[in-house]
Formats: sequence, structure tokens, C-alpha cells
Amino acid sequence: MTLNRSRKDFPEDFLFGVSTSSYQIEGHRFGGAGSTHWDTFSATPGNVDRAEDGAVACDHYHRWPEDLDLIRDGNFDAYRFSASWARVLPEGRGAPNAEGLDFYDKLVDGMLELGLKPALTLYHWEMPSALSDKGGWTHPDVSKWFADYALVLMDRIGDRVWSTATINEFWCVSWLSHFLGIHAPGVRDIRAASRAIHNVLLAHGRATQAMRGAGHENLGAVFNLEYAVPVDDTVEAAHAAATYDAIFNRTFLGAAFDGTYPEEMLAGLAPHLPAGWEGDMATIRQPLDWVGINYYTRKIIAPVDGPYPALEEVPGPLPKTDMGWEIYPEGLSHFLTHVARTYSGDLPLYVTENGMAGPDVLRDGAVEDTDRIAYLDAHLAAVQDAIARGAPVKGYFAWSLMDNYEWALGYAKRFGLVHVDFHSLERLPKASYHAMARALARP
Ligand code: FCB
Repeated sequence: MTLNRSRKDFPEDFLFGVSTSSYQIEGHRFGGAGSTHWDTFSATPGNVDRAEDGAVACDHYHRWPEDLDLIRDGNFDAYRFSASWARVLPEGRGAPNAEGLDFYDKLVDGMLELGLKPALTLYHWEMPSALSDKGGWTHPDVSKWFADYALVLMDRIGDRVWSTATINEFWCVSWLSHFLGIHAPGVRDIRAASRAIHNVLLAHGRATQAMRGAGHENLGAVFNLEYAVPVDDTVEAAHAAATYDAIFNRTFLGAAFDGTYPEEMLAGLAPHLPAGWEGDMATIRQPLDWVGINYYTRKIIAPVDGPYPALEEVPGPLPKTDMGWEIYPEGLSHFLTHVARTYSGDLPLYVTENGMAGPDVLRDGAVEDTDRIAYLDAHLAAVQDAIARGAPVKGYFAWSLMDNYEWALGYAKRFGLVHVDFHSLERLPKASYHAMARALARP
């Protein structure tokens, strides 16, 4: 099976890439990295399926040359990777881990040697345990600690990375992890969640300011967006969906681009934000060079009786991925046009993550993941549609290069274009990888 579109259907300078993140692939046990809140969260029974952790993951720490070759051979232009705060600074602050800095240094040089653009993310969820002991994202000083970490890492590799994102997915870092308690540190508390929301945004602002001050360029951030659909046409359902949209999407886009929080968010969270939060909004709202959008699905939202936010997700009718997520490519074209019109104007937009977990089967030395090829094709069509409607979309990164540690769901959810055998750690390109490689080949 092939994709119905190829590189020639996109603008000349459009970039194609793949994404991964450090804890999900590197093997955190190796190379002197400090403990992170994912190591302790996964060591606590009930938090992660089969109590799996990222100690070894894909052993990318040792196998990175092979992984970079796969990216190059897939005809991709760029690689979106992340650095682990705890690998760079095992205690979160203070003395850097020389081996950790050397690792990212070699990795970036390795990309450049293969002609791949290094697209760095500073935080894809490894809060060092030494800082989470103090409250992590709820601590008033966390934004300063983060800005310091940003400078330590950028001082070493900032001269060679192509782009830098501060935070991956503000909503996951704050709401999913401190209100829903599904990700580390597994807190379920409205006050902690409110503080985490504000502090992670402030961390983005301070780090951006500090990096800019040190002369680094092409700075952005990565927002995960979900399309919220009211369950029916009642006023109550419309209000519930608007609240979901506010908490998930508009809180972070509004703060980063306009320096404001939406009404439906303040209605529930204002009493719990840090005192004097209004004074931070100008720091949060930093000029950016590009915007990253991670998009996977939509959610059907129903009102419920109960405390704020008084809503629930209900199952929808569309075909679903292995995550139970509905496949809704229209949401991607919506967000690409909507974000440009409402928030970011002419700034380049990148789809920094998009992909699906599938029920992949390895048979006769091959994985025929035709459902993933169809998913990628439909979402690339949505990108084309957004471009045709004037959205300045400049690139698309598939999630993910290879199967990896899918957080609270462990290794069972496979998102890769490349299959990983988690016993032998052998990599095997799936049909989707070959389809992308063919579509992206240059004449
Ligand atoms: C995103 C995360 C990424 C991966 C995908 C499936 O929310 O950024 O690490 O887990 O979902």
C-alpha cells in the first residue's frame, strides 16, 4: 500500500520529519541520568500497565547511530527529539552530567552528518526527582530552574540545533498529570493543577527570554490540541465543550500568544492560581519564531452534575485507533487554520506530532500496518487542505520513528513507523515506514 500523496504535493521547502522523546526511547538507566518522576511513578503499583518503565526503553542511548540511519533512509528531512533534564542535570540544578551533555552533542552532530535538521524539545516530561521532591511544577521557582537548565543545554548544543521548543504539551504536563493524575507525578488536585498550568507557561516564557538573551534563534513551543464536540445541541453541552476546549486548548494558546487566560478556565481555576499571576502574563507571552501542533483526535463532551469542570468524555461513533481515539483528520485542518487566524498569524506552523497506535502484527518478517498508512495519508491530506486555505504550515512530523514507551500504557501501544522487539531491541521498518520513504524520495 502506498500513500496517495508525496513530497511533490507540498510546497518546495516543506519539511518532513519523525518525532520521539528521550524517556520513551533512550534507556534512562544509562549514562548517569538522574532519577525522574517517571521512574518513581512507574515504580508505584497501579500507575503504569505492567509497571513498565523507561530504564531500557529502545536503548537509543547506545543504538542512536542505527536510529539516525533509519531516519535518513526514510528520506526524512528533520528529526524532532528531546533532551532529558535529568540526564543533563541529574539533580535538576547544579552540576551537569558531562556524559549526558556529550550524548546530546554527539547525537546532534550525528544528525548534521546525515543532513537531518535537529529539532530539539527541552522538556518532554522528565522532571528530575530532586525537583519533584520539592513540588516540581507546583513550586514557585520551577520556571527559574527550567530556564537555567535550558541555558546549560543550549550552551552546549544551541549552536547546531535547527529549532528549539521549550515544552512539549502544556496540557499533559499540567492537567493530565496534576488534575487527572494519569501521568507522573499522578496528583489529583485542582490547586496543584492550577499552579502547574501557570508555572509551566511561565517556564516557557522565562526559558524563551533567557535563550533569546543568549543569542539562540528559531524558538517555539509545542501545543497538543483536541477538537471538542458537544454531545448534543443543548446549551449545557455547548458550555461543557467550551470548557473542555478552554482547559485543553485556549488556556495555553491564549497565555502564550495573548497573555490571557480564557473565561471558562478562570471560572474554575482563578482561586487556585498563584497570587499575583496577572503580573507574569507578560513574561509568558514571548515573541516566538514558530508554533508546533500535536494532533491526534477529537473528543465528544457531555455535561455532568458535579464540581468544576462538570464534564465528561463520551465514546464517539468514528473508527478508533488502539488508544481508543477516534480518527478525525478534519480536526487537524481546523486547528492549523484556526491557530494561524486566531493566535499566531504568519508564524510558521509545524505539525510536530501525528500518528496512531495500531494492532500491529509481525508476520513473516513484516508488519503490514495499512491502517497506519491510511491514517497518515488522511492527515497529510488535512495538512494540504489547511495550506490551501492559507495556513502557513511548513512541516509535518510523524509520531513516532519507532515503537516506544507509551507512558502509563507501557510498551503495549505501538506508534512506530519502525517495529521494535522489546526483548531483542531489534528494529524492523513497517509497511508505513516504506510507504513514507517512497512518498518522500527526491527524484
Ligand atoms: C503525545 C506525547 C507523546 C506520545 C503521543 C502518543 O501526547 O507527546 O510522547 O505519547 O502522545
